[in-house]
Amino acid sequence: MKYLVTDAAGAVGHRLAATLVAAGHEVLAFSDSPVNGVASRAWPTRADVLARALAGVDVICAVDLATVAPDAAPALLKRLDKLRVAAGKAGCGRFVLLGRADIYDPALLADKTLLERSATAAPADLAPPAAAALALEESLRAGAGLDWTILRAPMILAPDSAEAKALFRRILIDDAPSPARFHPVDARDVATALATLGTHDRAGGQVFNIAAPAALAARTLDQELGRLARLLNDEATPQDKLRPPHQVADPVLATDKLARLTGVTPTRPIWVSLAETMQQVMKDLRADGTLPPLPEKINPVVKAVELGQKLLAGKTAVITGVTSGIGRATSLLLSRLGATVVGIARNAEAGEAWEAALAEGRHTVPGHFIQADLMSFARIRTLAADLATRFPRIDILINNAGANFPTRRLTEDGVEATLAINHFAPFLLTNLLAGPLKAAPAARIIMVNSDWHRRSLPDMHDLQMESGYRTGEAYCRAKFMNLQITYAMAALLDGTNVTVNAIHPGVVRTGISTRNTDGAPQVPAQARERAQQRMISPEFSAVYLASLATAPDYEGQSGLYLDTDEIKQSHEATYDEDWAWQIWEWSAQITGLTPASA
Ligand SMILES: NC(=O)c1ccc[n+]([C@@H]2O[C@H](COP(=O)([O-])OP(=O)(O)OC[C@H]3O[C@@H](n4cnc5c(N)ncnc54)[C@H](OP(=O)(O)O)[C@@H]3O)[C@@H](O)[C@H]2O)c1
Repeated sequence: MKYLVTDAAGAVGHRLAATLVAAGHEVLAFSDSPVNGVASRAWPTRADVLARALAGVDVICAVDLATVAPDAAPALLKRLDKLRVAAGKAGCGRFVLLGRADIYDPALLADKTLLERSATAAPADLAPPAAAALALEESLRAGAGLDWTILRAPMILAPDSAEAKALFRRILIDDAPSPARFHPVDARDVATALATLGTHDRAGGQVFNIAAPAALAARTLDQELGRLARLLNDEATPQDKLRPPHQVADPVLATDKLARLTGVTPTRPIWVSLAETMQQVMKDLRADGTLPPLPEKINPVVKAVELGQKLLAGKTAVITGVTSGIGRATSLLLSRLGATVVGIARNAEAGEAWEAALAEGRHTVPGHFIQADLMSFARIRTLAADLATRFPRIDILINNAGANFPTRRLTEDGVEATLAINHFAPFLLTNLLAGPLKAAPAARIIMVNSDWHRRSLPDMHDLQMESGYRTGEAYCRAKFMNLQITYAMAALLDGTNVTVNAIHPGVVRTGISTRNTDGAPQVPAQARERAQQRMISPEFSAVYLASLATAPDYEGQSGLYLDTDEIKQSHEATYDEDWAWQIWEWSAQITGLTPASA
């Protein structure tokens, strides 16, 4: 088939030309600038030259009206109408017009059935591009002898979409109001649809509408653009780092007919197109001096999430404590990045809900929940054996589960409980998983520690605080020992493919301080709320953990202590090697870890 594509260098045109060439069609481009891999020429102004250019053309795809500037619309309409007449005379097979969704009065767009009917606003009320699109639509419908198809698109999103860029620029820089509703569609989806409509037998004489499956309200668009702008300007507040779950309005434009008759549906997520377009807008604004230049500082995890990149595809991540707080948020994030996540915690019901969230999430990969109480050495052993059988290769292990008990209590193994969950559990589980970790090409172990490790040092004569148990101190000392064994483990693993690092996840808004209170007096609700407002969200903290688990910066790096995203020195006593090995040996003895399994 021979296609003619107008505006073939534009955001839709060049993608359409590439799609057609890839499908084996011959493509002629009308374009003032050259188009990759396609024979292109300027628009012929003389009728005889136009007629000769159209010889042998089977399908014309006119895409200019979708993105034309208002002042250029009347002249373009004249050119396209001449093309339409010439195509009829030249015997071209089909004229495919990329029309505009704004031929409808925007105020009427709230009527969801409107676009399924053929009602239109009076041309006089329309903006010039929409009026031109409407006039051409009417000529095509009335003209005899030329088969036609119309695809109407709303705002077309692409990093090189002039219309989208102009809109975002106006909103961001001039503080102009957002459109009442926003029905974008990705330029790649438009190109795919146009390529199909050129030859599809059920498309002749039909008008189709295309839009992202869901529309955004103006307020949501403003919020999202503001958030993306702050992120890309490196001015983001903690809340900005991850996309909040915005409400998305119901679809307004009808795309059903397109799908029903031709099998074409938009597939690109609107958020991804929005982020990509915004990145380009910000780049342009920097290039023309509107914004100051800035080195690329966007966190790779945030960027990957925004762009839907699956950095961890094919990798297995085991994480403890996934039923709430930091562990839950981190496991969801790792799953969004493509990892198969194995989550461990005690609460079976919350575990099932977690599994369902992963299985049903639009962006997440299904995961596996294993119920286990990590305060039992026996259960850690059966868990490790089960994990090693089911997941012979573990790429990421995050020892996150933690707790703080207000009064001294003993586990079934007779050890103090705060020490059991924060220190012995990660020690034993990690050692028992050495096989599957070493089987991964480059495994990363992460110990979720706390900056509170600085506040109280273990007493070698009373490691389990048999005399004078104090809750805060028990937690701090357990985290201190967890750091000691992190560094000892890093030394043991030196030269292998496995690294181990510890991280303070920030002061995070979770329920850790209100659990296990045993009826002890709690901080008054108001004071707690005030304190919580100063904390970061678990989702924000998850970005730190996921960065440590994925970022190339940490490749091969072991024995680090990070305070959120900054490498820091932990308490100087944690680096005392003799002391660390004493703690290691004591821990191995208490947990029953034989040298062979260590
Ligand atoms: N929040 C902070 O500000 C903060 C600051 C520094 C460090 N951290 C550290 O961050 C980690 C996560 O804390 P978080 O604030 O997210 O706490 P959280 O909301 O209380 O979550 C703790 C998680 O650990 C699991 N868990 C607790 N005991 C367990 C056991 N015996 N066996 C298996 N799983 C168990 C819990 O699930 P089940 O109850 O279902 O078992 C839950 O999923 C901890 O290591 C904590 O020390 C937190």
